[in-house]
Amino acid sequence: MSVPVIAIDGPSASGKGTVAKRVAQALGFHYLESGALYRLVALASLRTGLAPDDAAGLARLAETLDVRFSGDSVVLDGEDVSLALYDERCGERASRVAQHPAVRSALLARQRGFRRPPGLVADGRDMGSVVFPDAALKVFLTASADERARRRYNQLKQKGIHANLRALSRDLAARDARDTARAVAPLKRAADARALECSSLPVDAVVETVLNWWRAGQRGASG
Ligand code: DC
Repeated sequence: MSVPVIAIDGPSASGKGTVAKRVAQALGFHYLESGALYRLVALASLRTGLAPDDAAGLARLAETLDVRFSGDSVVLDGEDVSLALYDERCGERASRVAQHPAVRSALLARQRGFRRPPGLVADGRDMGSVVFPDAALKVFLTASADERARRRYNQLKQKGIHANLRALSRDLAARDARDTARAVAPLKRAADARALECSSLPVDAVVETVLNWWRAGQRGASG
């Protein structure tokens, strides 16, 4: 039997990371934050001065990334880059490098490598549509643009990173537009994904809803 996957997709700052992590914890599953991989390619490209339109160079970078995930830390070439990764400049560059099909396919095997027993919860843009099309449960989270800007603002503040709410709101809108309009694996709800509008839902309620869907599916599968 194949290792079960729960795919949680949605736009920037929709809360998918927090929800996915908590669902993984509750089930004792592994967790993949696929956005971190795109952010890592972005960070490495910013550091090495690689242009955002150099698709072949970026794909090579994606294939050879020396990265380790340990607890909440992300280690790139032996350096803890957990903070640098969530800089908005890195998010913006990530959305650009993610447009290249060669970069996306270079990251495909790496992402699928996270699928290990007893199961995986993966969050991103195309977890249900492209990376794990056979996921046992697919969820597409949405939240209003204002709510997402506010969440990202609080997230950054918590990490001690300076942010401006108006600028954040504008940047999120630009990234959403780019992620939705790109030709390959755009941000889009898979036909078989369950949508959840969570602007006014506390995170506990979102986690509980996903867990209930999962349990109901398990009962359905065994009965
Ligand atoms: O989830 P995030 O905001 O950390 O992702 C950063 C960027 O990476 C996002 O703007 C688009 C890209 N991305 C993607 O194209 N596909 C994914 N599965 C995850 C992220």
